[in-house]
Amino acid sequence: MDLFGKVIALGSSPIEQSAVQELQSSIARPASVDSARVLAPWHKDSLTVVGTAEEVRKAHPAVPVPAGLAPSEYWIWDNGSDEHRLTVVAGGDERGALYGAFALLRYPLEGMTDPPEKLLGLHASPLRSKPAMPIRWVDEWDNADGTVTRGYDGRSIFFEGGKVRDDLSAVTEYSRLLASVGINGCNVNNVNDAAPFLTPDMIKGLARIADAMRPWGVRLAISVDIASPQKVGGLKTFDPLDPDVKAWWAAKVNEIYQQIPDFAGVTVKADSEGQPGPASYGRSPADAANVLANALAPHGGVVLYRAFVYNNHLDYNDLNADRARAAYDIFHPLDGKFAPNVIIQIKYGPIDFQAEEPVSPLFAGLHKTGEAMELEITQEYLGQQRHLVFLAPLWKEKLDFDLRAENRATPVKEIIEGKTFNRPLGGVIGVSCVGRDGWLGAPLAMANLYAFGRLAWNPNLSAEQIAAEWTKQTISANPEVVATVDKMLMQSWPTYVHYTGFLGTQTLTDITGSHYGPNIEASERNGWGQWHRDDAKGIGMDRSVATGTGFSGQYPPEVARMYESQTNTPDSLLLFFHHVPWTWKLHSGKTVIQYVYDSHYEGADEAAQLGNEWATLKGKIDSQLYEDERARLEYQAGHAIVWRDAIVQYFRKETGIPDAHGRAGHYPGRLEAEDARLSGYKVSDITPWENASGGKAVACELNSAQKTCTAEWTYTGHAGRFNIAVQYFDLPGGVAHFTLGINGTGVVSWAADARLPSDHAGDSSTRFTARGPDGRGIELKPGDVLRVEGAPDGKDLVALDYIEIERAE
Ligand code: GCU
Repeated sequence: MDLFGKVIALGSSPIEQSAVQELQSSIARPASVDSARVLAPWHKDSLTVVGTAEEVRKAHPAVPVPAGLAPSEYWIWDNGSDEHRLTVVAGGDERGALYGAFALLRYPLEGMTDPPEKLLGLHASPLRSKPAMPIRWVDEWDNADGTVTRGYDGRSIFFEGGKVRDDLSAVTEYSRLLASVGINGCNVNNVNDAAPFLTPDMIKGLARIADAMRPWGVRLAISVDIASPQKVGGLKTFDPLDPDVKAWWAAKVNEIYQQIPDFAGVTVKADSEGQPGPASYGRSPADAANVLANALAPHGGVVLYRAFVYNNHLDYNDLNADRARAAYDIFHPLDGKFAPNVIIQIKYGPIDFQAEEPVSPLFAGLHKTGEAMELEITQEYLGQQRHLVFLAPLWKEKLDFDLRAENRATPVKEIIEGKTFNRPLGGVIGVSCVGRDGWLGAPLAMANLYAFGRLAWNPNLSAEQIAAEWTKQTISANPEVVATVDKMLMQSWPTYVHYTGFLGTQTLTDITGSHYGPNIEASERNGWGQWHRDDAKGIGMDRSVATGTGFSGQYPPEVARMYESQTNTPDSLLLFFHHVPWTWKLHSGKTVIQYVYDSHYEGADEAAQLGNEWATLKGKIDSQLYEDERARLEYQAGHAIVWRDAIVQYFRKETGIPDAHGRAGHYPGRLEAEDARLSGYKVSDITPWENASGGKAVACELNSAQKTCTAEWTYTGHAGRFNIAVQYFDLPGGVAHFTLGINGTGVVSWAADARLPSDHAGDSSTRFTARGPDGRGIELKPGDVLRVEGAPDGKDLVALDYIEIERAE
């Protein structure tokens, strides 16, 4: 059964063939089975045609295809007949036709409630839509050796062993995914090690990648190293104003276009985090960007010059030093100096993809230059795909933020669309970092890739609508499932914020290392400038103009006034802009320190609640997906407790101020491993200390006669039914095994085989909860002996933090 009847392309281009292929194969998808129900009348004797507006006019002169469809715009209409249905998917160009095909696949889902809502019908109201901005790219941070920087699901789909891979079938599949949400460009290589990508052999390989992307309307872009004339070309200099350097770039760009005629352009990271840049020659980013732009202009290519330029050797003791200022300080004075095909690529916040930071003031600081907002689809600072964090609400907050440039309404989305300052080029870039084991590494993380594309197409969509669209297409159209998954998705970012950084301190993760688990001190006392300046008396960066670094003065006046004042700054960003005492009262009336305690306990509870919500889907969705996500959420709930305790312990110790509700520092039911009767286990310190309960754990150091280590505690509480949680460190380098036993009898065993993104011991804290065979808890009475037995494997030393006995519900 073909959902759309007979489907034909009116033209011969590969892009139209892709559109036909999608519509023909639509019935094979799970959500389409439901679509068939909504679209039932379409099956009788229908024909669906796909083509450009011009092709449609020629082949079907009676079809009222509108004049003036823009490039990438689509128009979908049908003739209203049940018997001989003609459906037309017309595009302003071939890409438009392809995007129209995907829109037609989504269309029935909008009416997919139970019972189905009556759709108005394409005859009465044709679908017409065009993208809000021309640049809709993903950036990959793949390296020539096949690794993917900040990627969490396997090796590169593009490269291996210094070359482009022979098998590019995953590139075709990825391009198809990108096209399904209207993404039209893909930069395939890491900004940090780009020189190897300009050798003649590599360019040949890149041309094969571009060939794989082309049928899906995705254009190839690459990151370039500004020192390439020297590193690859053997010139003595890479000074952008040197005539030989200009000639080298022009020739290199020609070489690329000879093999990749639709090459989209280049991305540049220069003078940043150790990358070479024009500053070495006293030249500006505009000088560097323009030499590339001039080489690309004759071919229609663009330069995405990243504003992520800052000094990572700042002096922590200088209270005026402020990394957040860098982008505006460097780029604002250059406005008007960039060539027309240069776009400044600006991260959403002034620091670096943090869970909470304000929108970058630079968006309002460039009126004569194209701008693109850089978002991060891969969850580098937001749980690395081991935590469920749906990013659309965060991105919406940034896109919708009204910067009030020139004292008028100037939401950031309209600035990057080019509307506000009348710029022809602009857009949005998503750092994606997919890998070949399963793209992003977690099924629900794919909602972020979907959301990115949908917002790039139309930043006015709501996060809720995007969540619902994705769930219906990917998991199930059952309204109960949609409601539950959407609720989880929408709650996930606030939840993550609640158990990690607070009130604008940023994520409080290990910023010099893994960027994954808690490490509060990691961001202080170094040159990276991600400081929060906490001590016994107070916390926060004073970024005011009056007494601080002056950063708040980079915003247009109305926004600057808001951030300048401690009382007007929203609580969620208070500590980004101000240094306040721990007893400072928030708008809610709570003190800062009490907020830290409360939000972290709430956050950990909310994380557990995500798992409870998911549990209601058992039997209603694909069982493999159910089980996979269940295990992920269980891990997340445990890691949220690690985060909670780390933050709460750290600041309680630092401030000496107790938790008004008595939770911080008191863990009823918790039995520390270091207090147990140990056999084979030795007590060791964990770094950072706050990542282990009491700062200590035990690790198994076997002697030759032993195969396992054990820790035993005698239970002294009330008799009853309990869940027993075991908090251990799932160290990399082996698969260790644990057994929990009571009075000498094993209750449950499990393997410490989690795939965690960080190999740092402090980041590996994991929780296993034994709930008894029927899930209703385990009987305990005073005097029972609880025992954890660990069998190490390789470097995994079955390290144990504590057990916790919690009353079963
Ligand atoms: C982050 C990330 C780096 C990356 C950098 C960038 O800091 O950790 O790996 O290179 O952003 O955006 O260039």
